This record gives sequence, structure tokens and C-alpha cells, in this order.
Amino acid sequence: MTYYFKCGDSSVQAMSDEYSFKTMPSPGPNAYPSRIAVIGDLGLTSNSSTTINHVIKNDPALVLMVGDLTYANQYLTTGGQGASCFSCSFPNAPIRETYQPRWDGWGRFMEPLTSRVPMMVIEGNHEIEPQVDGITFQSYLTRFAVPSEESRSNSSFYYSFNAGGAHFIMLGAYVDYNITGTQYSWLMDDLHRVNRSLTPWVVAAWHPPWYNSYNSHYQEFECMRQEMEALLYQYKVDIVFNGHVHAYERMNRVYNYTLDPCGPVYITVGDGGNIEKVDVDFADDPGKCPKPDDNKPEFGGLCHLNFTSGPAKGNFCWSKQPEWSAYRESSFGHGILEVVNSTYALWTWHRNQDAYKEDTPGDQIFIVRQPKLCSPTTKETSDPPQGAQESEPTSPSSTVILSSKMMWLMSLLVALFGIVVR
Ligand SMILES: [Fe+2]
Repeated sequence: MTYYFKCGDSSVQAMSDEYSFKTMPSPGPNAYPSRIAVIGDLGLTSNSSTTINHVIKNDPALVLMVGDLTYANQYLTTGGQGASCFSCSFPNAPIRETYQPRWDGWGRFMEPLTSRVPMMVIEGNHEIEPQVDGITFQSYLTRFAVPSEESRSNSSFYYSFNAGGAHFIMLGAYVDYNITGTQYSWLMDDLHRVNRSLTPWVVAAWHPPWYNSYNSHYQEFECMRQEMEALLYQYKVDIVFNGHVHAYERMNRVYNYTLDPCGPVYITVGDGGNIEKVDVDFADDPGKCPKPDDNKPEFGGLCHLNFTSGPAKGNFCWSKQPEWSAYRESSFGHGILEVVNSTYALWTWHRNQDAYKEDTPGDQIFIVRQPKLCSPTTKETSDPPQGAQESEPTSPSSTVILSSKMMWLMSLLVALFGIVVR
């Protein structure tokens, strides 16, 4: 359905131009938003501009923002210059105060995209913006409407929504995530209610990654992983999107730090282009393994662990790229998810520096759902939707990496015949 709208005050003839946007397809296994853009840690810099121009060029039907939107919380202290390590540069800054004109400017900056494409957001640490009397998250809560009531969470810090055959779960990393808390019990109910016949894909998103091999924020949210990972695994969440680390990283399917064909594909896109610059060091680089308390979360405790098995057994950091890390690159960019049917989704990461030349993907894979392999515990029918066939497992990981020629051929076959090749 297309909605037409104007913003402003008609009583004083101060109305905007007319804009329109399309709502998401109704839940069902055969209809998906054409392209879903995933952006993290955007900010408001020349790199942010390149990212958003690139996103607009890729013509998404839905935008997912995985936290740290404006960086307005450090604008006054840094004089707009930013700091790659805020607490190092400004150890005596009492709070990371908000600066509302920066939020307004970011809103105008985003208008060419958000005036016509629905955008769903989740909070990051830069949205905390502490004020007197313990007040937090005021800009985030005031400026964005999220379907918390509709998804029965009754909290803007975590909620869910459907977009065609995909169910999205947005989680809060800066509010209670413990098994005993209300977010966890809501998540359990929400996952239980998902009807995989209607929404075969379940995609989760929150700000700080659980799986991250960069030095920056390494194992920072290990406590959250230890509380929630088993539940996401039990309900066979397909994909997890995160930000926070200012670089790109895609993981192999993993559960409890062990490769597992039934674990989610984790993808970090905290590379939107903010003023804190890109993260370049890996925790497995010589001399770059952080000390356990180098990366303190802005919410929750420290639960750092040394690995108990595998090549990094007994150590806090790996000595090479971990086996669960499939691809990592320190460039700004954004991702596009194109769900083809209930089995296949194409994920493409677009680097900013490729925006102005032949737009070669920085990273591209088909993500393949294999519900029969992974014995679902949810209400999933065993029959694939019309026109689709479940694929047999092709590798220990059900993330299939194909050459660009094969992907082109596959896309063509799907487009022409509505079938899926093995
Ligand atoms: Fe962050």
C-alpha cells in the first residue's frame, strides 16, 4: 500500500512537499521487501554522506539502523571534531551530553531517504545521552516511533515486526538482557509466537556484536551472549545484524564459538562512517590482544572468557583469524539483504570507495535456510512454499559462497523460472 503525506502546520501554510512511501508486504512466505539496507554507526560526516548516497543508489524498500545514529552526544565536547577514543581524549568530561541541533541536522541529512523509505531503528550506546537525575535515551525515545505495543514488548528498547516473510527482532543491549528480566521473557514469547510458515526468516538485530575479532569492543558484550545465545539458537534465528565495531565482519554460522550449520549468520556493519574513524586492528594481530578490562560495556558487566577448546584453547585471543570469522575488512560501507524466497537470501556488502566506480560487491553470499537439517522447534511446516525446494547441506556451514558468475546465473534462474538450483 502506498501512503502519501505532508509534514508541517497547515494553519500557517507551512507544509512540506508531498511525499509517499510503500508499506511492507503482508506476512507470507512468497513476498519480501525487494532490498533491505542495513546500516550501523552512521554519524554525520563526509563518509556518512557517501554511505547514504550509496544506499539511495541501491534503492532499498526498508532500512534497518543498528544503533549509534547521530553521535550528537559528543558534539559539544569535541567541538564537532570527534575523537577516536572519547574517554582517552576527554577523561574529565562529566557526561556525554546531547546536542539537539545535531539531531535536527541528522534528520535533515536523512530526509532524502527516510521521507520515502521506512526506517526501523534500535538504540546504541551513543543514544544513552545521560542527563541529570539518571535520565537517559531521551532523543531516541522522543524522535522515533517503534511498534513496541504491537509486538507486545511495551518497551521502545526492544520490539519486533514483520516485513513480508521475514520476522525482525530488535533487541536492547543497554537494558536488562538477563534470563530473569522482562526483555528475555518477551523474547521467548515473541520467538514462540513466530509462525515460520508465514515468516520463514527470522532476523535479529542489536547494537554490540557477540562475535567480533577486531581489537575494538572485543568480547565486550560476552555477558549478553551468555544469557541469550541459547534461546536464539533454539529457535533457529537465521541472521543477526550488529554495529558498534567500526568495520565490516561476516561470521560463519556459529554457536557458542563453535562452527555450527544451525547457528545464525552474524554480520557486523558498524562501518557507516561516523566521526570516530574506522577500526583497523584485529585481536589476533601481534601485540593487539586487548586486556580483559580494556573494553568495558556501557551497560552490564564483564564476562570475558578464555576459549576452552579449539585452536585458541586456554587463550583470550586467537593467534590468527578465528575460524568463525569468514570475512573482515576495515572500510566504510553498508549492506543490502535481498530475500529471494523461504530458502535463499542474497547478502551484499557495499564499500564506500566503490560507490563512484563500477559497483563491485565488497562481499557477497547466498544465505541458505535449511530447516529440515536443523530440526526446528517452532511451528514450521515441512512443505516448502510453492516454487521453492529445500537444498541439501552442501558444506559444514549452510552459508554457501558462490562465484559472482554462479550467483548471476542463479539470480537469473530464480527470476525467470521461480526455481532454486542446487
Ligand atoms: Fe556503539
